[in-house]
Amino acid sequence: MISNAKTIIPILLILVLCTAFGGCLPGKANTNAPALGRDVTRADIETTTREAPTEYESAAESEIATQQTEPVYAPETTDAASETGSAAGTTDPSTETGEEPGTEEETEKETEKETEQVRTVTEIDYLVLVNRKNRLPDNWDDVIELEYAESAYGEPYYVEKKTLRAFKNLRQDLLENDGIDIEMNSTYRSVARQQEIWDRFAEEKGRSYAERYVAVPGYSEHHTGLAIDVIVSRDGVLYGSNEEMIAARKTFAVIHAKLADYGFILRYPEGKETITGYAYEPWHFRYVGPDAAKEIAARGITLEEYLRNIPDAVTALE
Ligand code: DAL
Ligand code: ZN
Repeated sequence: MISNAKTIIPILLILVLCTAFGGCLPGKANTNAPALGRDVTRADIETTTREAPTEYESAAESEIATQQTEPVYAPETTDAASETGSAAGTTDPSTETGEEPGTEEETEKETEKETEQVRTVTEIDYLVLVNRKNRLPDNWDDVIELEYAESAYGEPYYVEKKTLRAFKNLRQDLLENDGIDIEMNSTYRSVARQQEIWDRFAEEKGRSYAERYVAVPGYSEHHTGLAIDVIVSRDGVLYGSNEEMIAARKTFAVIHAKLADYGFILRYPEGKETITGYAYEPWHFRYVGPDAAKEIAARGITLEEYLRNIPDAVTALE
């Protein structure tokens, strides 16, 4: 009995102490620890498991991220102002306001609408129309081949392969025969990059200027890799700003006269603003291939007119 009591008393003592101080039994959860995964976001996982991307990958991936999480392509509207602003048309209002998801019927309608809006291509289309009303095809990045190039100033650029070859030939011709040096100033842009440009122009030059010269992200020809903005130097004079280039009429006349031979068109000509939707941009060249370029130049028309797609072009400048 005494020996039993000697065994039982210490055991009872241990059980009382364990109950008082929170438990000694295995498997008891620490209720102060965060639930697994509660504070671990997808971004954390990706940051910790991937190497830092190059600048280009980074831009392209931001674009993908934007497309995956937000409806980048705003519904068609003739009012550019309503599409732009602080990324208007690029965010999901229900996410922003924390609204409850719609009813089943509403969700079905939305899905239907999204399906209708899908725009795809099966191969690269050098005549692709991207303007205020026609967004970049959804799978465009799958069909283009971008090539890396550096300007004479050592700046890195990506351009669609055939477009780059044509541009190099045009540049060589102008250098050798006219003493004019055209350098790439802006070429392929991700949607995220276009947003940065839009925001910068709106801040520095004002919203109405931005609307005249900068496309809404997702609706810029620069996403295609087929568009090249240049800066120009001649006789030691650099024409680098928009204003300087608009004023350099003689020099640009020489350049523009040679575009078609190399498959380029002047995409936003003077006097056609209500068709293209943008102000005159002597620096923005678009590759369409020599046949189309020659016809467009000879007839003095725009890509919209060539494609008989005028009703789809936006007349933001009317
Ligand atoms: N400057 C042209 C319109 C663009 O931003 O794509
Ligand atoms: Zn441009």
